[in-house]
Amino acid sequence: MVLDAKKIAVGVTGGIAAYKTCEIIRDVKKLGAEVRVSMTESAKNFVTELTFTSLSENPVICSLFDGHETRGISHIDLARWCDLFLVCPATANIIGKVAAGLADDFLSTTIMATESPVVFCPAMNSSMWTNPLVQENVLKLKRQGYRFVEPDWGTLATTAEGEGWGRLASVKRILHNIKYTLLGTSELENKRVLVTAGPTRESMDPVRFISNHSSGKMGFALAEAAKLRSAAVTLIAGPNHLDVPDGVKYQRITSVEDLKDAIYEEYDQTHILIMAAAVSDYRPKTRLSHKLKKSSHEHRLDLERTTDILAELGKKKEGRIHVGFALETENGVAEATKKLHAKNLDMVVLNNPLEPGAAFDADTNIVTIISTDREPENLPKLTKDAVAGVILDRICERVKHNYQKAAAV
Ligand code: CTP
Repeated sequence: MVLDAKKIAVGVTGGIAAYKTCEIIRDVKKLGAEVRVSMTESAKNFVTELTFTSLSENPVICSLFDGHETRGISHIDLARWCDLFLVCPATANIIGKVAAGLADDFLSTTIMATESPVVFCPAMNSSMWTNPLVQENVLKLKRQGYRFVEPDWGTLATTAEGEGWGRLASVKRILHNIKYTLLGTSELENKRVLVTAGPTRESMDPVRFISNHSSGKMGFALAEAAKLRSAAVTLIAGPNHLDVPDGVKYQRITSVEDLKDAIYEEYDQTHILIMAAAVSDYRPKTRLSHKLKKSSHEHRLDLERTTDILAELGKKKEGRIHVGFALETENGVAEATKKLHAKNLDMVVLNNPLEPGAAFDADTNIVTIISTDREPENLPKLTKDAVAGVILDRICERVKHNYQKAAAV
């Protein structure tokens, strides 16, 4: 999992948004991270200690003097233990305290003592957030290297407060920031990556279509992995139920022709194309404008070929990197290698949906990466996030190699 072996300390301060911290802890735990929570006294008014103990599967630390020091979890231990310190929600009080260099409880003392990155997620009433004193404190902390996931505009804690700046950033944005802080690199800075994902649908009449079982999970994971390497990412996807990764430009399509138009719109500015969409090879020759009624006869559906987008783009790819996917149930490596050459690709990611753990809707995948510059690489069963990470690593190696080659000329 992408956050395997990562240690995250979470400091919870007193704000109604503390309930959203529960979701964040659950999500990072699902991604493999280990979590330890520290709460201020006022945080206990919003969510109980027991909730965080259960979610983090570790005792919650509240005070410098509640016995944890003698049980080996001192503020110094926690400060050294964590790879990242998340303060969520962060009140104006904790921001002000740290900015002033004060350390008068377990949380502020640990923040002061840690050398790991500290990420504040402020949440407060909009007049507090826009107060120049708070803004000055935020600036001061940013200048010292503290990170912030800025609050959103939206409905504040009570309906009486209405809308304003100060609402805790979305869980999705906070998770992206956690991942970026722990795993992010600048390897693809200034690179534009275009990822396609999910199935296409080809209509035969207003109510029926031909499609496939692709869930889009692999493509969405690739878009996020590219974003974590600082690329500008566009994701074009067929029908799916997934959450678009934070900071990714998203376009939804239905048919192969829609997909083709959307790709061509972006292609000139694209440096890296990752074609993970399960594109239909055929579509009904005619699309009826009315619903096809049943009859007592057999019905024959005539199909025609769709455009092979990747093969077509392979003819004009110039210096771009093209990555394709191959779904094979027999002679995988040989068939995928044929596609590598036929479609002028740099890399083909081969998978077999009949293997256990590599099914369409699964969260895991078992792939072989076949490239023009190395032996086929068999990866073990990994989560789709982890597979995406390895694919992006190989892409980054190629980007570096191409750059060195160009510099040597
Ligand atoms: N692809 C495409 N346009 C199509 C069909 C496929 O761009 N009309 C892309 C897919 O997104 C994938 C790669 O080509 O990255 C290989 O797709 P796949 O369907 O496995 O292979 P095909 O070349 O269509 O061959 P076959 O179905 O015979 O295996």
